[in-house]
Amino acid sequence: MKAGIEAISFYVPKYYLDLKTLAAERGIDHAKYYNGLGQEKMAIVPPDEDVVTMGASAALRAMEKVNPASIDTVLFATESGIDQSKSAAVYVHGLLDLPSHCKCVELKQACCSGTAGLLMALAMVRQQPAKKVLLVASDIARYGFGTAGEPTQGGGAVAMVLSTEPHLMAIDPQNGSYSDDVMDFWRPNYMEEALVDGKYSIKVYVKALTECWNQYVRETGHDFDYFDWFCYHLPFTRMGEKAHMHLAKYADVHGYTKAQLMEQIAASLRYNRQTGNLYTASLYVGLTSLLESPAELAGSRLGLFSYGSGCVGMFFGGQVMENYQAHLKTSDHQHMLQDRIELDYPTYRKMYGYRLPQDGQQHDTPVYHTGPFRLAGINEHKRIYTAVQAEIEADTDAKNQCIRSEQHRPENTKHMVSVA
Ligand code: HMG
Repeated sequence: MKAGIEAISFYVPKYYLDLKTLAAERGIDHAKYYNGLGQEKMAIVPPDEDVVTMGASAALRAMEKVNPASIDTVLFATESGIDQSKSAAVYVHGLLDLPSHCKCVELKQACCSGTAGLLMALAMVRQQPAKKVLLVASDIARYGFGTAGEPTQGGGAVAMVLSTEPHLMAIDPQNGSYSDDVMDFWRPNYMEEALVDGKYSIKVYVKALTECWNQYVRETGHDFDYFDWFCYHLPFTRMGEKAHMHLAKYADVHGYTKAQLMEQIAASLRYNRQTGNLYTASLYVGLTSLLESPAELAGSRLGLFSYGSGCVGMFFGGQVMENYQAHLKTSDHQHMLQDRIELDYPTYRKMYGYRLPQDGQQHDTPVYHTGPFRLAGINEHKRIYTAVQAEIEADTDAKNQCIRSEQHRPENTKHMVSVA
């Protein structure tokens, strides 16, 4: 029985910082970011969005053609959780008004908990083929201000419906996995920013890829040539290129030029160059980027590598279905990326520095452009979410120019309805 991805959609906030702007402030040649890291823009999450609003926005679009009653479980993968006890999955379940028979759980293991959720979901639907799982992976990648990690920030979410009707891609049951207790990247509970040993994290990523590949080959007997295209976890897109060149060398492949190897991953890098690292969502935004590229993929075999610092890696494969294009949200995603608002440096700095008050009193969050949901405020230590009923008109005039914080548009709140 085939099982896999029935629907996929992603969401990024309305704001981004061009890495040329950051490079100018940091006195760095922007080619280091554009070419050395392979990143052009990073998504910036405004104060009235968090992993719940972003995850719910991605899920709303992924669920457009899915009967909510068929959803049996909501899994939420994140390493930017908003609560130590209550799962973000329950908030998304509420915002989307999903049936009360659903099971809702949050998962964590750095960037690869999205993949852990995917593999768990597929095991569930293989057991009970009439049921579907909504998987949300949502994160805010934050590093210390002015550190080497800063240009690899980002934020956003992906949502997938996993079922035995995989309109987009059937996922193979076998995978190769690897775990090792290392300190390459972590975030203690008392910190807002991740701590990272950057160069070491790249080495561990590559080692995990090698070990997962070995295990995958032992499990399946497949070789490199079995795959037509590859997708990697993308903390920055050059990492995907380095990883793919490493794998090709390690697997001792013959008959490919460097250009042909790069071609096997190029289409998966396009969206991530514009968003930055989305942690749990990164691999799947890369997959969406590949599926939504002009290439004809029906019948193609894809190899996917998921890496989560700390560390756990997983390598698995799948096959793209016939007529998959009819089930994509290509134009929605491309408009979402194009219609974003560029930040100037002072506004980026202000957004970066914003913290939700922690005194338990009632506070409204400042109003920014958001998607269909926003974090309206906090009261008695409870987060208050609102559904933005009317589509907020994208300010197309502002699209290509920097905005300043005083230009935020409080009038957009008038269509909001409290759902909390
Ligand atoms: P850095 O100190 O900026 O690195 O840190 P660099 O000086 O080595 O420069 C980076 C590249 O730019 C190099 O390319 C330079 O040569 C090149 P390479 O030699 O590696 O191919 N470069 C230039 N290129 C063109 N023109 C120029 C120029 N100057 C230099 N003028 C680092 C980079 C990625 C380490 C840093 O940004 C960082 O710490 N980022 C965060 C950690 C990270 O992303 N690690 C990736 C693996 S771990 C992972 O993926 C898991 C993660 O997603 C978390 C999770 O699992 O939850 C992070």
